[in-house]
Amino acid sequence: MVTIREEKFADVAVREALLDEAYGPARFAKTSERLREGRLPADGLSLVAVDHGRLVGTVRLWHVTAGPTRAALLLGPLAVHPFERKRGIGATLVHRAIARALLAGHRAVLLVGDAAYYGRFGFTAAVTGGLWMPGQFDRDRLLALELRPGALAGARGLIGATGKAEPKPDLSMLIAVTRENERETQGANRRAIVQRAA
Ligand SMILES: CC(C)(COP(=O)(O)OP(=O)(O)OC[C@H]1O[C@@H](n2cnc3c(N)ncnc32)[C@H](O)[C@@H]1OP(=O)(O)O)[C@@H](O)C(=O)NCCC(=O)NCCS
Repeated sequence: MVTIREEKFADVAVREALLDEAYGPARFAKTSERLREGRLPADGLSLVAVDHGRLVGTVRLWHVTAGPTRAALLLGPLAVHPFERKRGIGATLVHRAIARALLAGHRAVLLVGDAAYYGRFGFTAAVTGGLWMPGQFDRDRLLALELRPGALAGARGLIGATGKAEPKPDLSMLIAVTRENERETQGANRRAIVQRAA
């Protein structure tokens, strides 16, 4: 069964491998990446999909400003493992992320993506006509969902990054990650032994 939960520190390596697989190295050249690099995602809005203990999907949302004053979130990247697609995992991740953003009081979510996919969640280019990404972008793919009616009405200007700066990794963080990974591996091994013995 697929469950959606907040991303943990120990998920980072698998999440990055999944994004490499889904987007290739070009993912780092995307203009959206300029709004994410060196920043932390919004609190509680990094989600992963897990199936039988395996990370199979990821989505994160980031703080941005839509024009000079309007706070919003940027959704992405969204990816689902190639073998697990068309099972509704992508949709569940997007729905869950939107619900959490709404609960947390956010007003709008922006993204750069295919309207053919994101339209089903209510994302549209109709409210982004006055907004610009900080680099090359395809206007038809700059989409937004207003979580509060009129949140982007009349919004004009550049979309800018406003997330907190990502802390530089230090030795204590590395040790914490290594220990968490070890604990998870030991837990998985114990479960496998119990299953074999049963
Ligand atoms: C996009 C993605 C996250 C969807 O994940 P998923 O778990 O398969 O999504 P869902 O099961 O909720 O939806 C699958 C449906 O979306 C459709 N779909 C997937 N990508 C699409 C796209 N870019 N445009 C239009 N439809 C798309 C699928 O064909 C499928 O249609 P169906 O239900 O009629 O069979 C996944 O395909 C992925 O990781 N792709 C690689 C990354 C990528 O291309 N992202 C860009 C999206 S703009």
